[in-house]
Formats: sequence, structure tokens, C-alpha cells
Amino acid sequence: MSPDFENSRRTPFDLSGKVVVVVGGGQTPGPKIGNGRATAVVAARHGAEVVVADIDAAAAQQTVDLIAAEGGLAYPVTADVAKEQDCRAIFEVAVERSGRVDGMVYSVAVNPPFDIDTNTMARDDFHHGIDVNMLGCYHCNLYAAQAMERNDADTTGSIVNISSIASIKNEIGLNIGIMPYALGKCGLNYITELTAVQFAGAGVRANTLMLGPIDSPLAHHDAQSLFGLDAAGADEAHRETVRLKMGRATAWETGYAVLYLLADESRFMTGQQIRLDGGATAVR
Ligand SMILES: NC(=O)c1ccc[n+]([C@@H]2O[C@H](COP(=O)([O-])OP(=O)(O)OC[C@H]3O[C@@H](n4cnc5c(N)ncnc54)[C@H](O)[C@@H]3O)[C@@H](O)[C@H]2O)c1
Repeated sequence: MSPDFENSRRTPFDLSGKVVVVVGGGQTPGPKIGNGRATAVVAARHGAEVVVADIDAAAAQQTVDLIAAEGGLAYPVTADVAKEQDCRAIFEVAVERSGRVDGMVYSVAVNPPFDIDTNTMARDDFHHGIDVNMLGCYHCNLYAAQAMERNDADTTGSIVNISSIASIKNEIGLNIGIMPYALGKCGLNYITELTAVQFAGAGVRANTLMLGPIDSPLAHHDAQSLFGLDAAGADEAHRETVRLKMGRATAWETGYAVLYLLADESRFMTGQQIRLDGGATAVR
């Protein structure tokens, strides 16, 4: 049913009745909350049934437990997005169990291991990075959009692909270590546009949420391992090169930006790259 925007009593950003798949909804272990987990929790708090897909079954279950403890609805699906059949299975399970898919958030990324001293990366590692960061995004967009197409005529679907300002800006330095990530995110940006164009007629939207530095465990780990810096050194390098105008956000800010993109309130927005970066990439 079309949202009744003129009704002063309507609940804004209400995801009730929607099924939202968060791919990468577990998280790298650590003290802070990651983007996928925060997004899953926010979506559930706003009424969605959340499908938490992740390669790490225990991490996905932890997210489900967090949501259940607050009275929300969620269940886990274990999947390796480097495998096309796993991507397809995520949406088959969601449709079989929940009857439909309304939202999909692709919040997965890896930085493959490399030798910082010789600036070399094994070919298989490079390809695995592209498989996860880019091909997995393509497959999840395709199978999500196909599932959304099957919803009733007057409902919409929304896809949110989580990108990084690393796809438009070289943050700290050029080495082979960052390439599968940066190139994968460039591909993700483009996949979003293709999905948006191809599925607009079916009422399916797709947008890129391009993140700047977020205080997640993965970000801290990768900033250090990519450039051989300790935590303070990584932060200092970011301040110098990215010019963090507003410091770092938490993943909750990501969750609320995604909430807008998933909700009917954003129903005229598609094919866009939205930067959530505290102004880091603004002209200065
Ligand atoms: N944290 C930041 O500063 C930052 C900045 C820009 C973009 N991002 C993006 O945010 C997203 C989430 O990253 P995060 O920092 O919140 O870390 P995170 O650890 O919370 O999320 C990454 C998740 O991906 C899962 N994953 C890894 N390989 C997988 C695979 N093959 N199949 C399925 N799941 C897999 C991990 O288990 C983990 O749960 C990523 O797309 C990342 O590029 C983060």
C-alpha cells in the first residue's frame, strides 16, 4: 500500500511488515559495534523482520540474539558471498521462511593479506578480495532484486550497498594491499547504478551509502595492518590525509542513514551515491 504521507499520525520510518536482509550482519569481533550489526538492530527496532547473513555463524547469531533480547524478529543465515550459490540461497531461505524480501543491505568487505615489505599479494588472495567486495555484491543485488520483483505490485524494494570513500579517494597510500578493497568498492558503486536502472520499473530502488571512517573493529584492524601503523598512528594518518572534519562516526549513524534508505520515506531516491563521511571528502 502507498504510504500515507499526509497523515499527521503516521509513524515515520516504519519498517513493520518488511523483511530486511543484512548481508554482513554479524561483525568482526571487537569492543565497538560494526555497521552491519548496528543496521540490523536499527531495522528491527523499526519493525522489520531481519535476516542476518554472514560467513561467521556465531557472529550472525550474536546479532540475532541482540535483536531477540529487545523483542525484535530475526534469524541467521550462514553464507559465504564469494560463492554465487550461497548468495542465491540467502534469498531463497528468506522467501521460503518469511514469504518476501523488501530490503537488502550489502555490508561486507575484506582486505586480503599481503606482504607490506615487498608490496606483493598472492593472486588468489587478490581474486578473493574482488569476489567478496564486488562479485558478491553483484550476486546479492541480482537475487535480492529478483525476490523483490515478486512482491505485490504496490510494494517497493530497497537495496543499500555499503561503499567507502576509499573508492573515490586514496586515503593513506598506494599499495597492493588496498587494491581489492578500493577496486571492489568502485565496482559496488557501479553495480548500484546498474541495479537501480534495471529494476526501477519493478519498483526496486538501489542506493550506495558511501562511508567515511567509522569506529568499527574492522576499520581499526585494517587501517593498522594495511599501512603498518598502530591505532594512534592510523588515526593520525587519517587526520592528515582525509582531513577528518568531524572525526569518526559510530556505526549507529550508518544504521540510521540506512534506515532512511530502506523506508518508504526515501521512495523517490534511487541510483544515488550518498556520502556519510562527516565532510571528509568535501572540497576544502
Ligand atoms: N568501518 C569503516 O570505517 C568503514 C568505512 C567505509 C566502509 N565500510 C564498510 O562497512 C561495511 C561493514 O564493515 P565494518 O567495518 O562494519 O566491519 P564488520 O566486521 O562489522 O562487517 C564485515 C562483516 O562481513 C563479514 N564477512 C566477511 N567475509 C564474508 C564473506 N565472504 N561472506 C559473508 N560475510 C563475510 C564478516 O564476518 C563481518 O561480519 C563494509 O562494506 C566496509 O567496507 C566501513
